[in-house]
Amino acid sequence: MELPFQTLQWVGGRPGHVSMIEQTLLPTQRVDHEVRDVLGMVDAIYRLAVRGAPAIGVAAAFGVMLGVQELRGLSPEETLGRTREIAATLAKARPTAVNLFWALDRMVARADREASAGADGDAIVVALFEEGHEIYREDRETCLRLGEVGAERISDGQTLLTHCNAGALATAGIGTALAPMYVAAHQGKRISVFADETRPLLQGARITAWELAQAGIDVTVITDNMAGHVMKSGKIDAVFVGSDRIARNGDVCNKIGTYSVAVLAKEHGIPFYVVAPLSTFDRELTDGSQIPIEERPEEEVAEGFGKRTAPVGAKVFNPAFDVTPAALVAGIVTEAGWIDRPNRERVEAVLREAGALTG
Ligand code: MRU
Repeated sequence: MELPFQTLQWVGGRPGHVSMIEQTLLPTQRVDHEVRDVLGMVDAIYRLAVRGAPAIGVAAAFGVMLGVQELRGLSPEETLGRTREIAATLAKARPTAVNLFWALDRMVARADREASAGADGDAIVVALFEEGHEIYREDRETCLRLGEVGAERISDGQTLLTHCNAGALATAGIGTALAPMYVAAHQGKRISVFADETRPLLQGARITAWELAQAGIDVTVITDNMAGHVMKSGKIDAVFVGSDRIARNGDVCNKIGTYSVAVLAKEHGIPFYVVAPLSTFDRELTDGSQIPIEERPEEEVAEGFGKRTAPVGAKVFNPAFDVTPAALVAGIVTEAGWIDRPNRERVEAVLREAGALTG
């Protein structure tokens, strides 16, 4: 299944560059942004030109490729050292989406393995290119699988609510939370979607509404404070959201406001589903309280619409994410299947089965 746009891609061979949709300009302008070096990629990730956990992971892998592509004739140790430095620089771009660190760890581990196996510096760079392209390819495949698994619980005629953007524009493929919607529509199910606007940066209104409309799916934008009213009126059959990081006990971190949506869904007896690849699970964290929450500049809240909306000097708090306790989650869709009523035992069982957890 193909959508009529490509969120990000590697262009050319070696040397090459990254082309991505400049998401800060959507929906009024559809412009491609070219990234040609590591600092350019850090900038693109920080200012949300590319955003969404899986897309950030792919962007980070491409960032490593940008950083090593001109290296020639170095020793394995020097190449490994440069790879580590580049990964450390990219790791500073944003703190919450674990896919960023997952992808960087995977790139460094590949370089390490090649060096240990006796590869010279140039062969390590070739291997890093292979690994980066593989991360991209896997993300596209995983999104399709998430879509197929998630669509099992979408029926013809249903109306779904989503928060932020966990669609194609948040991945290299057809998305996470929106993937089941695309697959359901492809299967001929008639669905409608309510997209929370998602203050302060409006990823729901600007990006989710844009991409669903591109795909011909019926979408209605509401401001975040309308979700309770819409649920109470009986309009919503299920909620589907993505995630930036999931702890081992099933606590789910996602865009600020997701927790409120989950509480409202519980109150109204509406299933609250999370769709995420296994790369979004953080095996190091026992619960959601350990997830680092990004805080962003106060202007995003106080001047978010291009004009001042709070008095100059007013204190502003701008956390970009929140954590929804596992108890509010009806099910998590992964490429390995559903984790219903997630808790530590069920999450760990799926991770272990997928080889993502040892011991
Ligand atoms: O700040 P953003 O736009 O990167 O936040 C994105 C989200 O919160 C998404 O829901 C999450 O990354 C899942 S994306 C498949």
